[in-house]
Amino acid sequence: MIDIHTHILPIIDDGPRSYEEALSCLHELAETGISKVCLTPHVNKTAGQKGRDRKIQEIFDELMRLKNQENIAVDLVSGAEIFYTPDVPALLKDNPAWFFGKQRRYILLEFHGNIFGIEKVLSELLSEGIIPVLAHIERYPWSEKKNPLFSYFRNSGMIMQINAGSLLGKYGWLMKRKAKTLVRQGFCHVVASDTHELSDLDYSLEKVRPVLTKLVGREISECLLVGNPEKIIAGSTMIK
Ligand SMILES: [Fe+2]
Repeated sequence: MIDIHTHILPIIDDGPRSYEEALSCLHELAETGISKVCLTPHVNKTAGQKGRDRKIQEIFDELMRLKNQENIAVDLVSGAEIFYTPDVPALLKDNPAWFFGKQRRYILLEFHGNIFGIEKVLSELLSEGIIPVLAHIERYPWSEKKNPLFSYFRNSGMIMQINAGSLLGKYGWLMKRKAKTLVRQGFCHVVASDTHELSDLDYSLEKVRPVLTKLVGREISECLLVGNPEKIIAGSTMIK
């Protein structure tokens, strides 16, 4: 399985406070059947970002070195969880490290509160060949069944990601029900862990796998956990 959304990169956001803690998470991921993990620290969330991308790269390189030293059998892929602002298309031109891997085709985007003008911005990204993966869509109040904006996301080619923890009841039964409904209705292309600390892996992709299989069958479940995440990393086209 491939986990495309984690905050395991240490000392840079609200993830692990040390390399040791980050390595423990990687050990755990490898033990639960994860072969590749994307490191997606929060970016564009606060002011004073200058020099942060360089810092992220340095920490990524060091974690890679330590992971290889400890022979942890999981590949690391660079990325970011981009906080939505209307200037994201322009910012991406100066921040190639915000894309998944080196292909520069998919990005992970999260929203809070103000989503004014979002349709225009997302269309702009798509017209430039950039495909947004919308992070943990089950959290957003506007992701209800009747909200036309939400259907627009699906119909216009956005990729939608749901957190394993939501499907496993980490955030209560209401969120669990909503996440399951979204998966059943086809509003989900990828399931990821959004791991910030070791205890988050109590809600691992390994544990969500049988839940997904029961919900949508084995073939689609494997698409959500392996096939589609692989395409995001490879920058290839996803069949929806
Ligand atoms: Fe996240």
